[in-house]
This record gives sequence, C-alpha cells and structure tokens, in this order.
Amino acid sequence: MSDDPFDELRRAALGCVACGLAETRANVVFGVGDRGAGLMLVGEAPGKNEDLQGEPFVGAAGRLLDELLAEIGIAREEVYIANVLKCRPPGNRDPRPAEIDACKGYLREQIRLIAPDVVVTLGAFASRLLLGVETGVTRLRGRRYDWWLGAALVPTFHPSAALRGGERVKDQIREDLALVSDILASPKEAPPGAGGPTEGGLAEGGAPRQESLFE
Ligand code: URA
Repeated sequence: MSDDPFDELRRAALGCVACGLAETRANVVFGVGDRGAGLMLVGEAPGKNEDLQGEPFVGAAGRLLDELLAEIGIAREEVYIANVLKCRPPGNRDPRPAEIDACKGYLREQIRLIAPDVVVTLGAFASRLLLGVETGVTRLRGRRYDWWLGAALVPTFHPSAALRGGERVKDQIREDLALVSDILASPKEAPPGAGGPTEGGLAEGGAPRQESLFE
C-alpha cells in the first residue's frame, strides 16, 4: 500500500460516502493529469459521460477545452483537471451546499499537494467558490487574482458556455488562456504561502465575499 499522500487522498475519495451522491454515482471522478503540473483547471461537477468514465471533462465540453488548451501549446496530459464535486449530481442539477461542504476538502488537498502556479476556474460556480465571492464570471474573468499558497487564479467561462455561446465566448476563453500562458512563462511574483486565499480581492465594486472553500 502506497503512503503517498496524493494516492491516499484519491483512495479516500474513491470510497467516499459523505453525501447522498455516493448512492447515485457510477464512478467517483477524482481528477486526472500531471500531479506536478504548473496549471490546474477546476470545473463544477462531473456530467453523465464523466460519471460513466470516471474522468473529468471527457464529453463535448472537454473536447473543446482540450482544443483551447492546444491553441496555447498545452496538452491535456500536462495539466491537472478536477472538479469541485467529485460525484455527479443526478440530472446535472446544481451542487447543493451540503454536497459542497462534504467534498471541498478533497479539492483543497489536491490543490495543496499539486501546488500549481496557476488555477483556472471554469465557469461561475467554481470561480465564485474558490474566490469566495458572489460576482458573476463575466465580471470576474479577464484578470488574475493573487490567491492561495502563492498561486494565481484566473477565472474564465465554462467550456459548455462556449458550446452554447459560440465564437465570442470562445474568444474570451482564449484571452484568459493567453493570460495563463503569460503567467506560466513569467517568474513567480509572490513566495509560496504569501497572502490569504482571497488576497488580491475583487475588481472595484465586487460583490461581498461569501464563505470561501479555503477559509
Ligand atoms: N462540466 C464540469 O464542470 N466538469 C466536468 O468534468 C464535465 C463537465
């Protein structure tokens, strides 16, 4: 048996029965990719395909995500991809507060152990939760936030919004990924451990903070 903390975390998640989603899931979707990645992407929750295959972002939204990453020269295998919720909410309904509470420790530990330079949150749900705010993703995106453990957080639209919204939304995701590319190419500004999870805060006029995943 491995005593690697990441393997242990994965094992714990795969056997998790902390919320009712354990009864309806086909598979726990823990996450996939390079555990030493400088870039981590965080979505909302597995959909039907992800639940069946046990891997995040394998449906149409995932294929678009792979394409957009490829445009900045990054392959799926080079990043780490996870969701806030590790199990599929039936019918793709919104995650419930009790489910988020039961699951958030897994994501927090994944981020702590991977220690990426950049975390990209895909869509309003993950962006709000990780930043601890209620602002919409349209207003949050387009900039970096100095975040937890010295990482930069870059919110962007969920790729499924681009599937619905067409080229305009895709171009905005491209802009955000170009920013990610610049951050990854530049030396780190803040030493690890500097600042709190929401330090760097919101743009002028941002919404009041809600309880953060990381507080
Ligand atoms: N949407 C998400 O937020 N995550 C997935 O893994 C798939 C679709």
